[in-house]
Amino acid sequence: MEPIEKVIDERVQGKALTTEHKDGNTKKLFIESYGCQMNMNDSEIVASILSDQGFNTTQILEEADLVLVNTCSIREKAETTVRKRLQKYNRVKKESNKNMKVGVLGCMAERLKEKFLEEEKIVDLVVGPDAYRDIPNLLEEIEAGRDAVNVILSKDETYGDVSPVRLNSNGVSAFVSITRGCDNMCTFCVVPFTRGRERSRDPKSIIEEIQSMVDKNFKEITLLGQNVDSYLWYGGGLKKDFKKASELAQETAVEFAELLDMCATEFPKTRFRFSTSNPQDMSLDVIHVMAKHKNVCKYLHLPVQSGSNAMLKAMNRQHTREEYMELVDNIFKIVPEMSLSQDMIVGFCGETEQDHQDTLELLKYVKYDFGFMFTYSERPGTLAAKKMVDDVPEPVKKRRLQELIDLQQEHALYRTQQHLGKIEEFLIEGTSKKDPNQWKARNTQNTVAVFEKGNYKLGDYVMVKVEDCTSATLKGTVVGYSDNN
Ligand code: SAH
Ligand code: F3S
Repeated sequence: MEPIEKVIDERVQGKALTTEHKDGNTKKLFIESYGCQMNMNDSEIVASILSDQGFNTTQILEEADLVLVNTCSIREKAETTVRKRLQKYNRVKKESNKNMKVGVLGCMAERLKEKFLEEEKIVDLVVGPDAYRDIPNLLEEIEAGRDAVNVILSKDETYGDVSPVRLNSNGVSAFVSITRGCDNMCTFCVVPFTRGRERSRDPKSIIEEIQSMVDKNFKEITLLGQNVDSYLWYGGGLKKDFKKASELAQETAVEFAELLDMCATEFPKTRFRFSTSNPQDMSLDVIHVMAKHKNVCKYLHLPVQSGSNAMLKAMNRQHTREEYMELVDNIFKIVPEMSLSQDMIVGFCGETEQDHQDTLELLKYVKYDFGFMFTYSERPGTLAAKKMVDDVPEPVKKRRLQELIDLQQEHALYRTQQHLGKIEEFLIEGTSKKDPNQWKARNTQNTVAVFEKGNYKLGDYVMVKVEDCTSATLKGTVVGYSDNN
């Protein structure tokens, strides 16, 4: 069984993204996105920038004038997938579409830079995550026969004023980026190198974007960032430069708890989620804001990576196992119905059988609702790659991963069973994959339910009696509308 990946939505991985057509646009853009939700949202920003340049999206690779692939570097496997796609574009270009231009966006572009132009002859354009505004100029460079590379990382780029066009949207839930980059320097992680230093987006532009989504009838907004709890707006600039800001700027700064409170108060009918929370930056203020507002969903993605203090230290996570457990205790004290999910890395450098047992014990302590588990994949340039030895044999990594997945599966079932017999509010977000006569909907804890469609519509909030469940899905019957419609 493959690791279950969540931030990474399997249904949209690599699927050509489409959006509404703008009249008068004659050029065709084929854009695919791999990796995290942040990449999906970035692709929406790129499509928006290109829509102003005469491009409409297409799902037919063979007819594209421009092919863009937004890439992920988080594990080696993610990069292998992208390389296969590049080969595919190459074939199409040779066989049937000689004028097609191909560009690589995102983390792999940032990591490999010019190497892409040398290694992969198919690539015409290489653009890092902070340089998407430059794509129109870069396209002109290509036309003039020059190489087109921009991988400059920025101190203040947040694309705050670019209104993303929603790609393959269900019309109900959308993502809004609030921070970019990450300063945490976990030793295994490539993100600080590919996405640069951490910076936050102007709350005004966040509220404006949410307003425009609400006007379009969106019901659920997920605030996105590598580390949302670290959000800090003090007029722009890098988080690490906050201490250099003026006294006034420091005093009037907006933290994540305040931003969340602002959003939830301003849009009382809209559901809010956020991802990802890093335990070291999570403040209980945020949990109190969650408790205060019904429309802030009671779900936290709180990656821990390992349950062993030795591993947490080697990973440069800034907390111990005990501190994490205390945080979880406090969260449950403030919001008893909170649903939690984890990310875990198994087989990190030097991981012993005892370290692994500690991780299993931590899982048992928390009993997460959802979990996303991966075997360690060494990434070039990271501190772990430079200073540590990737010494856990692959079969041992696989076995430990399986043990984690099996245990997580038990906990997921335990958690879904807690909903049995209850009547809960669900937001309808699409048709069930298995049965076209059934809706798929989510409750505040992010647990999915399916039920007969009846006369209910996409985007309705309904009350559902939960009657049955698997470890992943609740089954039930609608008893009526909720009072949130
Ligand atoms: N803060 C980020 C984390 C991004 S990476 C966020 O927004 O989610 C997502 C997850 O991938 C991490 O939590 C970690 O569990 C996993 N991961 C990161 N680097 C990895 C590596 N080198 N090998 C295996 N898994 C990794
Ligand atoms: Fe990566 Fe750690 Fe940041 S996992 S994204 S360096 S919080």
